[in-house]
Amino acid sequence: MKPLLFNLNSDTPLANKVADRLKADLGELDTRLFPDGESYLRVLSDCKDRSIIVFCNLYQPNNKTLDLIFLANTLKELGAKHIGLVTPYLPYMRQDKRFKPGECVTSRPFAQLLSTHFDWLVTLDPHLHRYHSLDEIYSLEGHVVHAAPMIANWIKNNIQQPLLIGPDSESEQWVSDVAQLANAPFQVLSKVRKGDYQVEVSLPDVEQWQQHTPILVDDIISSGKTMLQTVQHLHSAGLSTPICIGVHGLFSNNAYEELTAKAKVITCNSIPHLSNQIDISDALSHAISEHL
Ligand code: R5P
Repeated sequence: MKPLLFNLNSDTPLANKVADRLKADLGELDTRLFPDGESYLRVLSDCKDRSIIVFCNLYQPNNKTLDLIFLANTLKELGAKHIGLVTPYLPYMRQDKRFKPGECVTSRPFAQLLSTHFDWLVTLDPHLHRYHSLDEIYSLEGHVVHAAPMIANWIKNNIQQPLLIGPDSESEQWVSDVAQLANAPFQVLSKVRKGDYQVEVSLPDVEQWQQHTPILVDDIISSGKTMLQTVQHLHSAGLSTPICIGVHGLFSNNAYEELTAKAKVITCNSIPHLSNQIDISDALSHAISEHL
């Protein structure tokens, strides 16, 4: 029997591409808010004994998570065989440590919540820094798709002499993979975060790379300050206009406008945005098919 894919109010173009590639049936839901602001949810498709894919792209997670849990719970009650979650962006991975006494390490309760309701999870490059794999906090079958091959292809097709730059130590995992696949030199800088909008990125050593196009690669662009400061360093060092590649472009406030004033910005379509130029739908579909 074909799998059944429910798209929970998010990122319809990517959800439809994935459903097409998997030849999945599209599940139907009736969702609305009651006058008091509480959610109404009804599953209209028969899901008894079927493999279910719930596509819910959890960027800006706070207003999506509750409906997601309601849906997973209902699908189970209605007899679904397996229920998997596809969220191209996996949130709540960055608070992976109690930095100050009393802080909630949000990554852990969030992982427990999703693990209670889903059998498997497919996502693209989650922020694995202090955790080395999803298994450290998720008890479901976690499957990570890597954007590196797709980013490397984009670079090979578009840039002649790239110099890859990772703005901080966490980015080394992405930058080194992409550099190897694109056969390009790379450099990793260090960063100290002083606040949500304040970072200090070390100076790059680019004397010998003056003829190269600098390409910054990072997993997340949120406030954009990490990229912005690195771009400023590269301008001061006299390099040509940099290209910032983010796996996930969250672009809080005016981050995109600030960055595009000084650099070209490219992202994967893991979060819908006008900077999307790297399509992840094939890789995502391939990963999902392994769980059906
Ligand atoms: C941090 O550890 C991540 O890898 C990114 O460097 C970070 O999320 C970027 O954040 P922002 O755009 O707010 O500087």
